[in-house]
Amino acid sequence: MPQPTSLEALFPTEGQIPADAWRAPDDAGLTLLIGGERRLWDGPRDEIRSAVCLRDADRRLERLALGPGALASAELAREAVAAAARAWAGGRGEWPRASSGERIRCMLDFVRRARPLREPVARALMWEVGKPWPDCLKEFDRTIEYIEATAEALRQIEKDAAAPVPAGGFVARIRRAPLGVALCLGPYNYAVNEVFTTVVPALVMGNPVVMKTPRYGVLANALLAPALQESFPRGAINMVTGQGPTVVGPMIESGLVDVLALIGSARTASVLLKQHPHPYRLRTLLGMGAKNPAIVLADADLDAAAAEIVSGALNFNGQRCTALKHVLVERRVADALVERLADHVARLKVGMPWEPGVGITPLPDPQKPAHLAALVEDALSKGARVVNPGGGEWAGTLFKPALVYPVPEAAELYRAEQFGPILPVSVVDSPEQALDAIERSDVGQQASIFGRDPATIGRLVDHLANLVCRVNLNTQCRRGPDVYPFAGRKDSAVGTLSVTDALRVFSIRSMVAATDAERPLFEALASRSVFLSPP
Ligand code: G3H
Repeated sequence: MPQPTSLEALFPTEGQIPADAWRAPDDAGLTLLIGGERRLWDGPRDEIRSAVCLRDADRRLERLALGPGALASAELAREAVAAAARAWAGGRGEWPRASSGERIRCMLDFVRRARPLREPVARALMWEVGKPWPDCLKEFDRTIEYIEATAEALRQIEKDAAAPVPAGGFVARIRRAPLGVALCLGPYNYAVNEVFTTVVPALVMGNPVVMKTPRYGVLANALLAPALQESFPRGAINMVTGQGPTVVGPMIESGLVDVLALIGSARTASVLLKQHPHPYRLRTLLGMGAKNPAIVLADADLDAAAAEIVSGALNFNGQRCTALKHVLVERRVADALVERLADHVARLKVGMPWEPGVGITPLPDPQKPAHLAALVEDALSKGARVVNPGGGEWAGTLFKPALVYPVPEAAELYRAEQFGPILPVSVVDSPEQALDAIERSDVGQQASIFGRDPATIGRLVDHLANLVCRVNLNTQCRRGPDVYPFAGRKDSAVGTLSVTDALRVFSIRSMVAATDAERPLFEALASRSVFLSPP
C-alpha cells in the first residue's frame, strides 16, 4: 500500500473523522429565500465540497462532499431583486415605512431564533471553509454581538435626532431614511460574520435586502434562512445561492439595486459597477484587497514582535483581509527577527479544523495551494529562500506555512495579496524606505509599527495616517473592536464599516421642515406620521 507523505497523512480517512465533529451531508445548500417564501431549488446544482479532503488507501485526496448547492439562474436572481423592489415599493413598502423600533424588534427576533443554531452554523462553517472550531463559534458569537450593538446604535441615533431643530425661522425634523434595495455580497473567509455586518445595518435602516451567499459558506448561511424568513416581512430579506457572474450581473443590470455592499476584490467591484444602467445612482460600500505591512524598527522588542507578527499573518491561514501580509524590517535586525519568526512558525500545528490547538488548516479554495506555491517559486527565483523547513510544501488543500526571506521588490510576493499562509519578509535600510514602499502600493488598509522610539514612530505615524486607515502600535492589524471605523484607501475600500458607520452608509438624511408659523401643524403631526413621531 503506498505510504502517504507526512502532509497527506494529516487528512483523515473516512473512519478517522471524530463522531462529534461529523456533519452528515444534507440539501440545505439548495435553500433560497425569495419574497418571503423559502424554496428548495430544483434547477441546476453542484456539489458543495469541504475544505477538508478525505484520504483513501491509494493516497488519493478528495474534498469531502457536503451536499448539493443551488446554481440559481439569472431568471431566479431577477425574481429575487424584483421581490426586494416590491418590498421597497418606491419607498412606500411596509418595511421602509416601519418605525425604527419595529425594525429593531424584528432584528432582535431574528437573534432569538438564530441563537439556538450556534453549533450547527459553526459546524457548517468549519466543514465548508476549514476554520478551526473555536474560531467558528467565535464568528457566530461576534455576529450576534454585532447585531445587538447595531440595535443599540440605532436607538442612540434616533434619540440624538429626536428633538426638532430650529434654525432661521424654521423648525425641522432630521432623520436617517433608507436608500432602497441593497445587494449584499460577502466573502468566504468570514462567511457569516461579514455577510451579516452588511445585511444587518442595511435591513435595520429599512432597506429590503438581497444577500448572495459567499462562494464557500453557503450551508452556514442557508441554516439561518428560516430564522430570517420568520423574523422579517415578506420580501425584506431575500437569499440567493449561485455563481457570481450568473446571478449578480443580472441583478445589477436590472437597475433595481440602489446600494451594493461587496466584500471581495477590486476586480469584481469594477466589473459590477459598470453593469448598472445608472452607475452614478448606485451607492457602494466596498471592502477589497489589502497588503497590510508590519514595519519592524531596529529598536523593536524582537521576541514580542515575532510572536505578534506570526499570529497577525497566519491566523486562519492568513485568510483575513486584515492579516499582516508583508514584513518590512530594518537591515540591522532582519536576521535576528527572521530567526524568531521561524521559531514561531515552526510551533504552529498543521491539521484538521476540529483538532485542539490547530493553527493551520485546509484551504477552501482548491486552486489556492498551487497559486501560493507559484508565488513562493517566483520569489525563490529572484533570490529569496524559504526559511522554515518544509515551508511551502502542500498536499490537497493543506499548505504548510512558508516564511520567505528576503523578498526583493522584483518578486510578485512583494505586492500581490497572498491571502494564504505565506509570510514574506523584505529588508529596508531606513523607516523612510518602508514608507516609500507603502506609498507605491495600490492598497491602503492598515499598517503595524513595531518599535520603541517616540520620535521615529511619531514621524511614521504622521505619514502612515495618510496612507492607510489604521496604524497599530506594537500589535497586529485587525478589524475589531467593531465600534472602531473599518475603512481603507486606494483599492482597499470605499466607505466605512463600524457598528455606527454602517448604519450611516445604508441611509440618507431626510427631513421635514416648516416655518415657525406652521409649528402647530408640525407638532400635530407627531402622532400622525411615523417619520415625525418621537422614537
Ligand atoms: O477579512 C477581513 C476581516 O474583516 C478581518 O477581521 O481583523 O477581525 O480578523 P479581523
